[in-house]
Amino acid sequence: MKIAVVGTRYVGLVAGACFAENGNEVICVDKDPAKVRMLQRGHIPIYEPGLEELVRRNKSEKRLTFTTALARGVRQAQIVFIAVGTPTGEDGSADLQHVLGVAREIARSLDGYKVVVNKSTVPVGTAVKVRDVIRRETTHPFSVVSNPEFLKQGAAIDDFMKPDRVVIGAEDARAAELMKELYSPFTRTGAPIMMMDCASAELCKYAANAMLATRISFMNEVANVCEAVGANVDQVRRAVASDRRIGPSFLFPGVGYGGSCFPKDVKAMMRFAEDKAYDFKILRAVETVNEGQKRLLVTKMEEHFKSLKGKRIAVWGLAFKPKTDDMREAPAVPLIQGLLAAGASVHAYDPEAVKVAKGIFGSKIQYAENSYAALTGADALAVITEWNEFREPDFSRMRKLMRQPLIFDGRNIYNPESLRALGFTYISMGRP
Ligand SMILES: NC(=O)c1ccc[n+]([C@@H]2O[C@H](COP(=O)([O-])OP(=O)(O)OC[C@H]3O[C@@H](n4cnc5c(N)ncnc54)[C@H](O)[C@@H]3O)[C@@H](O)[C@H]2O)c1
Repeated sequence: MKIAVVGTRYVGLVAGACFAENGNEVICVDKDPAKVRMLQRGHIPIYEPGLEELVRRNKSEKRLTFTTALARGVRQAQIVFIAVGTPTGEDGSADLQHVLGVAREIARSLDGYKVVVNKSTVPVGTAVKVRDVIRRETTHPFSVVSNPEFLKQGAAIDDFMKPDRVVIGAEDARAAELMKELYSPFTRTGAPIMMMDCASAELCKYAANAMLATRISFMNEVANVCEAVGANVDQVRRAVASDRRIGPSFLFPGVGYGGSCFPKDVKAMMRFAEDKAYDFKILRAVETVNEGQKRLLVTKMEEHFKSLKGKRIAVWGLAFKPKTDDMREAPAVPLIQGLLAAGASVHAYDPEAVKVAKGIFGSKIQYAENSYAALTGADALAVITEWNEFREPDFSRMRKLMRQPLIFDGRNIYNPESLRALGFTYISMGRP
């Protein structure tokens, strides 16, 4: 099939490359000329494992091309995906200016029947808005489809190639059939293609992310109660997670959820419920707990040191989670801001996100070449992102480098007893 994808980053680039990998002819459109030039040269503007190789292969097979010219992309395609950002607007709602702007541009480029697919995460009713925008601009026939994306950054290719399910909201049979045909190679392992109305498809994505965010905030509160009553959250979590009705995913306590999706999607879901006079009380609590959790490690450090003034803190991990360079809403940001405000200095390391961090903090903090370099002269280490390379470090080397053998582990990646036996003071989340 011939496909255009508008928006070429974490979702659009992955979708475009994966559609091409399955034999489709894909043209990826982005308004950012620097990004498009980079992609045309075979380099990718983000860090996502396996993506560069996939892009290069499909580019050299001439199944994947890049352009800034949206009209060219649209004219060549039967199906046009909208995969642009939907950031939080001033009132907490999803800002649809990019989605509707792209819909308008697509409409002006139509030269015959096309399926316009919304892959961005958008509030219920957006398919109707997209349809209205297009209808105002053109007399050509078209269908609008909602096809929310459930991939996880860091495992995006695997998630896209082998999805748990594909959700398609379609209001007419022609578009529904084309979408089923497009996705059938991705669901050979038996994953269902779920056909539904557009409103339900739009809501699916928010309900899924809100559920995952709720599990994280719930377990963070359980960890906080563990600390208050002297229980161990590791043991509590294992027992709870072994219940088949509950399962183990998204039950790890930590420094709060971040990223480009959970915080904005929780906010947007509360907001569109509120627009219909529904107060989504659980999500308000989920958000409040998360905000508190992001500040918790600084509070723990302040309690330990009494004053953070003049202290040198090593920070391991800046990205909002491992295997990405994305720092949108990353817990490391308020943590570092809190440390700087309290008079501490910060020496940070992340395997992929240092470039992004420099754009946020500039020269306010120092950036280390590797994890050990960040520890030189440190009064404490704060572990914020659970990259694999932090899991089994050389603790005796760490002790020699640090001014004090003190670790605040925001991800519970070490064993408290082993670390204490090695001479570290070790403070983690919800564990004695
Ligand atoms: N990042 C994720 O893990 C993830 C997962 C599932 C769903 N989503 C949703 O998918 C959507 C896209 O997410 P993302 O993280 O890839 O977004 P992003 O903001 O990182 O990237 C959007 C891209 O769209 C481009 N763009 C914006 N306006 C454009 C226009 N008018 N014409 C052409 N290009 C334009 C931007 O230059 C940018 O490259 C969002 O709604 C997000 O909530 C994201």
